[in-house]
Amino acid sequence: MPGPIVLRDPEEVRRICDEARASGKRVGLVPTMGALHEGHLALVHEARRRSDFVVVTIFVNPTQFGPNEDLARYPRDLEGDLQKLHEADVVFAPDVAAMYPPGDETRVRAAGLAAHLCGPHRPVHFEGVATVVTKLFAIVGASTAVFGKKDFQQLAIIRRLVTDLFLPVSVVGHPIVREADGLAMSSRNAYLSADDRVRALSLSRGLSAAARAFGEGERRAGTLRGLVHAEVERAATSIDYVTLADVDTLTPIDEASLVGKRALLAIACRIGGTRLIDNLVLGEDPPPHAQP
Ligand code: PAJ
Repeated sequence: MPGPIVLRDPEEVRRICDEARASGKRVGLVPTMGALHEGHLALVHEARRRSDFVVVTIFVNPTQFGPNEDLARYPRDLEGDLQKLHEADVVFAPDVAAMYPPGDETRVRAAGLAAHLCGPHRPVHFEGVATVVTKLFAIVGASTAVFGKKDFQQLAIIRRLVTDLFLPVSVVGHPIVREADGLAMSSRNAYLSADDRVRALSLSRGLSAAARAFGEGERRAGTLRGLVHAEVERAATSIDYVTLADVDTLTPIDEASLVGKRALLAIACRIGGTRLIDNLVLGEDPPPHAQP
């Protein structure tokens, strides 16, 4: 089977996508930063199912990294990635100057949704994400774009920006793909030492404990959040947050209140030097770990 076409020039991508649409094809888009794993490939498969011409972008977007973050050491493996992308028609792998040419200065900012969870810990992050995703939507003109629920807040912000800017793309959220032991797949898992890898299981273990308690009828917000926090605290080097939040607005739920039908449990913490995130929607997602 021939591999995907690799393009680096936005105008060429626009042209090939115009042609695909002109011949009646539905164009699907999966934006990534590369170092692809089964989680990314599940999104590509979903895009394939929903469209006829699949564009995967591989771009380590500098504007979404803070000055003390891992931009320089972010894993890059274009050759390895291309081997995995047999379900893509086009891989768009631009360099930074192609996406941010001299004079570039427009930014897209989601104010409210970016104020919670990761926002305060990564001040420039969501503006960088919203900006690059808007650029990719404009270049590709996809009818469908697939994003992972692993980055729950990112997905919420992208849905918001598509609504607010009247963008003609339907956004699909894909469930989190996990390793057999429950760890959410992430390109950053490559940073984990063997010991970190064991400790990293505390995130999904904590979420499982809360999901099971919820399944058994527990509704006290403080208790549910506490179950996750206790697990994560035991293993994490530091915790950015363990938060129970409203699924739509991402605002934190008062510890003293009872949760309703659904609520988002979200974690960001550091295991060794690696920042990991994970989440689960109580009332919707099954526990990531099977009952022991
Ligand atoms: P990246 O971290 O490479 O992720 C690309 C897409 O894969 C995102 O939609 C992310 O949510 C999804 N993904 C990652 N791990 C997943 C998992 N275990 N299960 C399901 N989906 C998973 O997210 C980004 O890149 C960037 O911010 C980007 C949107 C490309 C903008 O630069």
